[in-house]
Amino acid sequence: MAAQFGTYQSEIYLQGLAGAVPPFTTDPTALESSAREVLETGPFGYVAGGAGSGATVRANREAFDRWRIVPRMLADATERDLRTTVLGTELVAPVLLAPIGVQSIVHQDGELATAAAAAELGVPIVLSTASSYSIEEVAEASGDGQRWYQLYWPNDDDVTVSILERAKRSGFTALVVTLDTWTLAWRPQDLDQAYLPFIRGIGTAIPFSDPAFRALLAQSPEEDRNSAVLRWVQMFTGVDKSWDQLAFLREHWDGPIVLKGVLHPDDARLAADAGMNGIVVSNHGGRQVDGAVAALDALPAIAEAVGDRVDVLFDSGVRTGADVIKAISLGAKAVLLGRPWVYGLAHGGREGVRHVLRGVLADLDLTLGLSGNRSLADLGRHTLMEKP
Ligand SMILES: Cc1cc2nc3c(=O)[nH]c(=O)nc-3n(C[C@H](O)[C@H](O)[C@H](O)COP(=O)(O)O)c2cc1C
Repeated sequence: MAAQFGTYQSEIYLQGLAGAVPPFTTDPTALESSAREVLETGPFGYVAGGAGSGATVRANREAFDRWRIVPRMLADATERDLRTTVLGTELVAPVLLAPIGVQSIVHQDGELATAAAAAELGVPIVLSTASSYSIEEVAEASGDGQRWYQLYWPNDDDVTVSILERAKRSGFTALVVTLDTWTLAWRPQDLDQAYLPFIRGIGTAIPFSDPAFRALLAQSPEEDRNSAVLRWVQMFTGVDKSWDQLAFLREHWDGPIVLKGVLHPDDARLAADAGMNGIVVSNHGGRQVDGAVAALDALPAIAEAVGDRVDVLFDSGVRTGADVIKAISLGAKAVLLGRPWVYGLAHGGREGVRHVLRGVLADLDLTLGLSGNRSLADLGRHTLMEKP
């Protein structure tokens, strides 16, 4: 049975009769400023900030604003079904939680809280290599929940294979390989605070608990944390890879592989040619190439080029239910939600993630119906018009 996410709306109004209001805002555009009030400057800047001038962060939102939904009436949209199939697996809605590293900088429960909230709602997580908790700990918190693993590809084959094996053993079904962050961009908000979580040993739980990584160290991370941090930072940043190296991952991962950070149709074709199963059209939320094309502007041509060969996913700038509808209408099968639930995590751990996620899903459900659509299959280019 399809989940009726819109019921969160009536739940909130009914609780209001008993004098209760939501734990924090339901307005996705107000989340960032309310998170600023509960976070220290360093962590807030790390989450909200972008590369360089911030042009790409702004472009991501401007691209959504250039498209308008054209609602249809008397369309019998009382019952809606948000389900879709991605990489051969059914999802309750076309939404996954994007891989977000170092979640403990916004809440001590970090990835554990996120995994539990997502599992409760049946929404998949994508666990970042830069997690504050180990693969095994997050798997336990995720329980029966769907989970994918995001790889920041180490420059050491033994460590890479060891991490992949752990992910597989822990029930992570798909591998997401992030291509756009082989080294960190110039990020003024972090530089001005001289704030980089990894250097402080945050977001290193996966390598520090990895036998292949530990075997390379003269002293364990518990004995000499700084040397271990340095070794890891050198191992997962600074060296770009090439298309022919994907064969190595294919050899060591027998499930679906998704490449994240694709913005050019030719790269999308190369991904399909390399036998990849999916791509995420993404500019990393404007955190990597300042002045890069808005991810939504890149989406239609990419979906056109490879939509029949690989599953095209999307992130960067999704804030509302309407945004999800726009991305699906322009060719995405599903979207990855990023910053909004991180702000939810900052506000209230597991409950905060749950509140934001339920809000986005309710908004999606209601907006889908109110625009005259019963399922994602009803959406397409005909759903939208460009801003006059
Ligand atoms: C604080 C933060 C940490 C992130 N960490 C990772 C990461 O570890 N791995 C990754 O592939 N992407 C990471 N991303 C990028 C997200 O997966 C996603 O592409 C981005 O958040 C989408 O942009 P949006 O949040 O503005 O919608 C991170 C993004 C943020 C905001």
